[in-house]
Amino acid sequence: MKIGVIGGGQLGRMLALAGTPLGMNFAFLDPAPDACAAALGEHIRADYGDQDHLRQLADQVDLVTFEFESVPAETVAFLSQFVPVYPSADALRIARDRWFEKSMFKDLGIPTPAFADIQSQADLDAAVASIGLPAVLKTRTLGYDGKGQKVLRTAADVEGTFAELGSVACLLEGFVPFTGEVSLIAVRGRDGETRFYPLVHNTHDSGILKLSVASTDHPLQALAEDYSSRVLKHLDYVGVMAFEFFEVDGGLKANEIAPRVHNSGHWTTEGAECSQFENHLRAIAGLPLGSTAKVGESAMLNFIGRVPPVEQVIAIADCHLHHYGKAFKAGRKVGHANLRCADMATLNAQIQRVEALIDEA
Ligand SMILES: Nc1ncnc2c1ncn2[C@@H]1O[C@H](COP(=O)(O)OP(=O)(O)O)[C@@H](O)[C@H]1O
Ligand SMILES: [Mg+2]
Repeated sequence: MKIGVIGGGQLGRMLALAGTPLGMNFAFLDPAPDACAAALGEHIRADYGDQDHLRQLADQVDLVTFEFESVPAETVAFLSQFVPVYPSADALRIARDRWFEKSMFKDLGIPTPAFADIQSQADLDAAVASIGLPAVLKTRTLGYDGKGQKVLRTAADVEGTFAELGSVACLLEGFVPFTGEVSLIAVRGRDGETRFYPLVHNTHDSGILKLSVASTDHPLQALAEDYSSRVLKHLDYVGVMAFEFFEVDGGLKANEIAPRVHNSGHWTTEGAECSQFENHLRAIAGLPLGSTAKVGESAMLNFIGRVPPVEQVIAIADCHLHHYGKAFKAGRKVGHANLRCADMATLNAQIQRVEALIDEA
């Protein structure tokens, strides 16, 4: 079976690493000359709106998926004429726009921060008056890793901020005084069968994920699965979806969804019976889903800007290096380390060792 992937970054690369043992082949469509997934399959170097090249991709693969949600809706609509595309255009349309996303949570009875659509500075001023400060202003589309958003704490922060974010459609959200952030990685097959990985605790630094730790018997697991199930059923979703939640007042507020494999699920490569990457491929290919059970205690640490010396990373016991083969650049995700240990005490000690390597930059 040959899979076409829109986007050729590290997520595409890791999909191919998981699918190759299943006998799958891959083709990636990505305009970047140095797309890091290209090492694992054919690279069609073209813009996402280039219909000739999209057709060339569609003609040689059995189905198409994508590794980022900002894919233009027209791209998905065009490809869908020739080849099955999973997840659906509808799921993508909602997940790529924070207004649609939060409106869906509200419609499905899933708690989410107070929010308002912002089309002008006047809208922003009015929304701040009703939602209050602190609040977070985010562009409705194209934001990632904390980019395209600003925390507003004082009246001075509000002034001129609509223009600062580019005078594009935005969403204002009430700031959530969360006690923690967790994410749930779910997978749903073509037949509707759904499985969930254990909840993951996430720590961010300047809006970018730094550390994920898989939990055991998290008290909010059932609630997170209930909220997520509503979305998956509503969208008749096929593939892996990630749900980001704020932990607040002993409950959960939904932050956002990602219609794809997710950074906070990278630990599953060594830490679960079947990884999020393999399960996404199984789901979209109509194959039986794999077990989402955790194997030991697991964590993932991102390498941002640079990967510490390889020999030092892999010298740490229980440490598995994932190097994306990308050029090092400040603020860029260039690799991660997965730790899988027998118990939490060992895991915490090994996390500190990897953190020390990162800090030695
Ligand atoms: N409403 C909010 N209240 C408090 N913190 C927030 C809020 N929205 C975002 N954040 C913080 O910023 C991070 C990134 O925001 P998010 O909406 O997830 O955007 P991205 O698409 O960049 O991941 C979150 O993980 C959280 O730490
Ligand atoms: Mg996020």
